[in-house]
Amino acid sequence: MKLSIGLKSLLLQLLSLGLTYLLLFAIQFFWGASLSIFLALFLHCCIASVAALVLRFDWWWGVIQFSFPLLVVFFYWQSLPSFVYLIGLLMLSLLYWSTYRTQVPYYPSKSTLIDPLLNLLPVAERFNFVDLGSGMGGLLLDLSKRNQLGQFSGVEIAPLPWLVSVTRALFYRSPVRFYFANYIDLDLSQFRIVFCYLSPAAMSELWAKVSTEMLPGSLFLSYEFVVPGVEPDLCIELAQDGSMLYGWRI
Ligand SMILES: C[S@@+](CC[C@H](N)C(=O)[O-])C[C@H]1O[C@@H](n2cnc3c(N)ncnc32)[C@H](O)[C@@H]1O
Repeated sequence: MKLSIGLKSLLLQLLSLGLTYLLLFAIQFFWGASLSIFLALFLHCCIASVAALVLRFDWWWGVIQFSFPLLVVFFYWQSLPSFVYLIGLLMLSLLYWSTYRTQVPYYPSKSTLIDPLLNLLPVAERFNFVDLGSGMGGLLLDLSKRNQLGQFSGVEIAPLPWLVSVTRALFYRSPVRFYFANYIDLDLSQFRIVFCYLSPAAMSELWAKVSTEMLPGSLFLSYEFVVPGVEPDLCIELAQDGSMLYGWRI
C-alpha cells in the first residue's frame, strides 16, 4: 500500500515521539537524570527532522518536521478557545481538500508568468483555454482581461479556492468560467490550450490523459514542472525569477 506524504509525516512525528520517550527513559535509567520539557521538545524536533532527511523526504519536510511540534506546543500554551481550532481546521480542509490524495496543494503562480503566457496565446482567432487546478482564479482573470479572443475556463477540486474564484469572476463581471470538479473527469479534447501548475507527483498521470485526449495542433503548458521522460518543445525561462514555463505541441 502506498502511503501519502501527509500520512508518512504523521507517522514520522509519532515515531520520533516514541524514540524521544525511549531516550528520556534511558537517560533516567542509566544516569538518573531527567531532561527539561524544552530539551525533550528540542530532541523530538531534531529526531523528526533528521529522520525526514534520512528517509529522503524533500528537504523542506525537514523544516516542517522540526517546526510542527514547536507550533503545536506554542498554540497549546496560548489557551485559545476550542472553536478557533475548529474554524482553522475547517478553513484548511476547504483549502487543501484532497491534497493528501492528489499531492497538489494550493499555491498561486507568480505574476511573472502572465506576459510569457500571453505571448503564446493566439491573437487572430478564437480559442479555448483551461487551467487544470485553477486555485483562486487570479491567473485566468488576468489573462482574460488582456486577451479577448480566448474562452478561459478553470477546474478546481478544492471548495474554498473555487468559491473565491467564482466570487471574483462575479465581482469583476468576468466571462471566465470556474468549475468545481476533478480535472481527471474533464475531456481535454475541447481545449486548444491546456495549462497546469501542479506538482511533480501529478505529471505522469496527466501526460497519459493529455496525450490520449488532446487534439493535434493543440498545446499543453506546464509551469515549473516537467513531464518525466518527455522532452518539452518549449522551455521559457521567466525573466526575473528563473522559474520555467514548459510546453508540448500535440
Ligand atoms: C499550485 S495550485 C495552482 C493554482 C493556479 N493554477 C495558479 O496558477 O495560481 C494547484 C491547484 O490545483 C488544484 N488541484 C489539484 N489536483 C486537482 C484535481 N485533480 N482537479 C482539480 N484541481 C486540482 C489544487 O486544489 C490547487 O488549488
